[in-house]
Amino acid sequence: MRKQIESVRKQQIGECASDGMRVLVTWSSVTGNTEKIARAVARKCPHAEIVPVADAPDPGGFDTIFLAFWCDKGQIDERSRAYLETIREAARKKGSFIDVAFFGTMGGDPRSERSIAWRDKMIDAEVGDGTLIRCIGQRMWQGRVDPEVTERMNRVIPMTPERRALLEEAARHPNEEDEQEAEAWAAAILDSRLPSV
Ligand SMILES: Cc1cc2nc3c(=O)[nH]c(=O)nc-3n(C[C@H](O)[C@H](O)[C@H](O)COP(=O)(O)O)c2cc1C
Repeated sequence: MRKQIESVRKQQIGECASDGMRVLVTWSSVTGNTEKIARAVARKCPHAEIVPVADAPDPGGFDTIFLAFWCDKGQIDERSRAYLETIREAARKKGSFIDVAFFGTMGGDPRSERSIAWRDKMIDAEVGDGTLIRCIGQRMWQGRVDPEVTERMNRVIPMTPERRALLEEAARHPNEEDEQEAEAWAAAILDSRLPSV
């Protein structure tokens, strides 16, 4: 009976039965793109705790946190930034850093040099000197932009052929290939964290 209770408790806190790692997969998502990618990541660790960031638990109980955010006007979205602050507070309490794999979606081309530089700058700003958050991975995927937002933006940013092409490409993401990439990305991170025998 005690064993059973322990097993349920382990699952509740997201401990992977196979390796003892306590993993949290959490995301912020308004139109569903980031959630889709986060769920693909979560498929690679079925015993992880999987919750939207608004319901995310105390990060202090986890060894690995996969945090998915979306690009909001050139920033990591507000909910994700708030949870990153919670992670820093938990790390301060614990007296050691917490490992975070950063990922997310954006309307722009995530493979462009500009987007990669943006992503790295945003993440570096959150990580700081690395004493509270250690970055163990960073990756972005493209995501469909809400047409209402595009319409509003059209009033201030002129529609060029390049912009139209970018938005049309964004509308095709995240697709199945993106989900497969996200699964492989998560699996590689988790693999690299298993103790070698
Ligand atoms: C208010 C708003 C602002 C956005 N700002 C940007 C931006 O600055 N750069 C960008 O590449 N995409 C931007 N996007 C596009 C989103 O990052 C993209 O659609 C993302 O996949 C949305 O994630 P979600 O579906 O999980 O909410 C913006 C979208 C919204 C709604």
